[in-house]
Amino acid sequence: MPADVKEKQMAALTPYYANSPREELERVALIDGSLVAMQLMLVARAYGYDTNPIGGFEREKVAEAFDMDIERYVPVMIVSIGKATDSGYGSYRLSTDETVFWK
Ligand SMILES: Cc1cc2nc3c(=O)[nH]c(=O)nc-3n(C[C@H](O)[C@H](O)[C@H](O)COP(=O)(O)O)c2cc1C
Repeated sequence: MPADVKEKQMAALTPYYANSPREELERVALIDGSLVAMQLMLVARAYGYDTNPIGGFEREKVAEAFDMDIERYVPVMIVSIGKATDSGYGSYRLSTDETVFWK
């Protein structure tokens, strides 16, 4: 990013985030964190590892176990990474015709 673009972005975004309610910050963190998690899973797969996203967990307890400052960090999901011991069960994906609108 060129320096002048950085300056412009910082000037606009720093006050925006400073004045955004917690709810908005969490919304942004969930979107960004989810994209990062997906990318991490794809990279892990490219290196021959298997992954599993886990969204159902006790956020406060996990934050505590990982010594996370709950005021600063938002636990988004757990991504387990490793080598699968078996191939698991077959799965099914609905086609994009059934799940996506193009406008
Ligand atoms: C974001 C996300 C969070 C998930 N969280 C859970 C979870 O908390 N518990 C669970 O049993 N499965 C959870 N799943 C489902 C499994 O991680 C996994 O997708 C599924 O077992 C694989 O089967 P599938 O290929 O049929 O999707 C989650 C999936 C996604 C995409």
